[in-house]
Amino acid sequence: MAYYQRLGSVPGKRHTQHRNPDGGLYYEELMGEEGFSSDSSLLYHRGIPSQISDARAWDLGDLDTTPNHPLMPRHLKLHDLFEASSAGVDVVTGRRLVLGNGDVRISYAVADAPSPWYRNGIGDECVYVERGAARVETVFGAFDVAEGDYLVIPRATTHRWLPVTQGDQGYAEPLRAYCIEGNSHIAPPKRYLSRYGQLLEHAPYCERDLRPPQGPLLAEDIGAKPEEPTEVFIKHRGSGPDSTGGLVGTVYTYPFHPLDVVGWDGCLYPYAFNVADYMPITGKVHQPPPVHQVFEGSGFVICNFVPRKVDYHELSIPVPYYHSNVDSDEIMFYVDGDYEARKGSGIGKGSISVHPGGHAHGPQPGAYENSIGVHYFDELAVMIDTFRPLELGEAGRAVDDGKYAWSWVGGKRGGGGTDGGKGEVFTTS
Ligand SMILES: [Fe+2]
Repeated sequence: MAYYQRLGSVPGKRHTQHRNPDGGLYYEELMGEEGFSSDSSLLYHRGIPSQISDARAWDLGDLDTTPNHPLMPRHLKLHDLFEASSAGVDVVTGRRLVLGNGDVRISYAVADAPSPWYRNGIGDECVYVERGAARVETVFGAFDVAEGDYLVIPRATTHRWLPVTQGDQGYAEPLRAYCIEGNSHIAPPKRYLSRYGQLLEHAPYCERDLRPPQGPLLAEDIGAKPEEPTEVFIKHRGSGPDSTGGLVGTVYTYPFHPLDVVGWDGCLYPYAFNVADYMPITGKVHQPPPVHQVFEGSGFVICNFVPRKVDYHELSIPVPYYHSNVDSDEIMFYVDGDYEARKGSGIGKGSISVHPGGHAHGPQPGAYENSIGVHYFDELAVMIDTFRPLELGEAGRAVDDGKYAWSWVGGKRGGGGTDGGKGEVFTTS
């Protein structure tokens, strides 16, 4: 984010001596984007940031992808990916690849275990918390995240996920994390920003809605020992197929605990944003998906469709017109809403629809007509549009219902996936 934050102890002048109580120096680290030409922060470490005492390979698991060929719209049922009884899954090593291309990977995890310390050396991550809650500790400070939160984590930010498990703090559901990994930075759309980076009046959210990291910053604040040797799992570039970005992993051992930053300041840091703080833009006639955009990365955009009043022209049709987004694949993650209206369509909470470029898509039969006169849609969905085609990861292949493609013809092929004309009024895509 392009607005300045400061936490902990920093010297009055950058790049000058900053001493600890014993008279020794803290070690300054500039963490900056695009060389030295974009947003950055200065972090003051107790230990030398480059000090590693061991390195070993980290097997990232199955990241192979399969092209969407023959070209099919698809329905992926994410809630079938993890057994209710599965335990010991963490958000970092347990996430399973649903879809991916050379720009972005979408993974999913139902987690109840603490993750290892981790940083993504390839790009920013945007993790959407579908259900449950977690504490996320980072070198910039900590977050308490819960249902509806996006957490945007800049590339190379060392952090870990600590799910709030069932019974703790009243959360009945495990942490469900929808993980969007860019091969680039993830930020608000440029058109929402002033020339100097402030969110503009027409943007559907503003700085006041963004939560920066809070303390504590240091190992002893979380009950750890500062001198504790600690492993950090690093995802980074390697050789391999372009569709997975050529990913590999390495585990570094540091001779000290990663929470050793006594202070930092700057414009680069993780932040949280809750989808309930997104103020939807509505219109007299149907508004196109870009009005629902929340973030963007290189080669993809992230939009959210939130509960809202809908089109108020006297002859409006509130559901979308059929559309060919000829330059992109579009995937919709259905989080919440009134699903009675689309009973039998196959799509439900936890579903992903994949609408690929080259295929015109829109409402299921009956929905077009049934939406007339509707004034409000109670729905919540997160959409990602990519400009390169998405391929299916192992998790996507595992929970593909195999019949969604035929849902517009009344179930004549494949034997399901339609509501027989009652119509889904899910509007978004
Ligand atoms: Fe669409």
